[in-house]
Amino acid sequence: MTQIGGVQSWCLGVTLQLILAAVLHQGFATVAPPTTTQTTSAPHKDLGRPERGNYLVKNSNGTACLLASMGLQFNITFTSVSQNKTVQDVVNLQPNVTKSSGSCDSERTSLRLTTDAEKTNLTFFFTLNTTSNKYHLSEVSLSAAWPDMKDHFSVHNSSLDYLRGTLGYSYMCREKQTLNVAEDLSINTFQVQVQPFGLTGDQFGAAEECQLDEDDMLIPIIVGAALAGLVLIVLLAYLIGRKRSHAGYQTI
Ligand SMILES: *[C@@H]1O[C@H](CO)[C@@H](O)[C@H](O)[C@H]1NC(C)=O
Ligand SMILES: *[C@@H]1O[C@H](CO)[C@@H](O)[C@H](O)[C@H]1NC(C)=O
Ligand SMILES: *[C@@H]1O[C@H](CO)[C@@H](O)[C@H](O)[C@H]1NC(C)=O
Ligand SMILES: *[C@@H]1O[C@H](CO)[C@@H](O)[C@H](O)[C@H]1NC(C)=O
Repeated sequence: MTQIGGVQSWCLGVTLQLILAAVLHQGFATVAPPTTTQTTSAPHKDLGRPERGNYLVKNSNGTACLLASMGLQFNITFTSVSQNKTVQDVVNLQPNVTKSSGSCDSERTSLRLTTDAEKTNLTFFFTLNTTSNKYHLSEVSLSAAWPDMKDHFSVHNSSLDYLRGTLGYSYMCREKQTLNVAEDLSINTFQVQVQPFGLTGDQFGAAEECQLDEDDMLIPIIVGAALAGLVLIVLLAYLIGRKRSHAGYQTI
């Protein structure tokens, strides 16, 4: 019985360690983000998460063909007039002063976001592969003429591969994601849900969650599995113990 007891407590120890590790991991995971955003945000201002905007593109017959809901943040490098040097700035897109437009073709759609007085023009292009029935964000262009910019800012990248989804489904990502567009521009997305093809009505289709969100859900799953494992091990040890002691009685 002492041997069984040893095995039992060893199993218990290992399982508890697993649970502890998973819980600690989760603890660090939830604690870590605020510290990283603090160190990376622009030093001269305290920038929160961008507000989430809802954008809709209609095709010529008036039906919705592209739907997007997301918070957008520019991480942009430009020459500042006031500081007379190159600066890196983080700027949130304000949905309340942003207008959306765009176009929809069978294999290519676009969402154009224009802010107040057309000082910012941002366009997302999505491409559908009709063989695989998968879509993705393939192209981004931004032109901006902000008050502090010495020169007109303009970038365009047509070889991107972000926000990959399946025709008929919407792409969803709750976690912050970074779209690297050019050396002097990346765009952070927050709480994205987008469907650039295959809409029925003006509602999102079923959502396909991004990998980042799935990784987030993995931790509770690990904890659950560890707990289930613990129960199983204790049960097995109990059954083995009972069988042993049973055998013991028979030999006497
Ligand atoms: C902006 O981009 C720079 C590098 O290009 C990066 O170090 C920084 O963390 C980014 N900031 C945010 C808030 O994404
Ligand atoms: C479309 O998908 C198929 C199958 O995955 C692939 O072989 C093909 O190269 C893709 N076409 C384009 C234009 O990316
Ligand atoms: C944005 O687009 C409009 C219309 O095409 C144009 O008049 C405006 O100058 C553009 N703004 C920038 C910053 O390029
Ligand atoms: C376009 O984006 C891709 C992926 O982020 C990058 O590898 C490539 O260098 C970019 N091209 C330009 C012209 O910046």
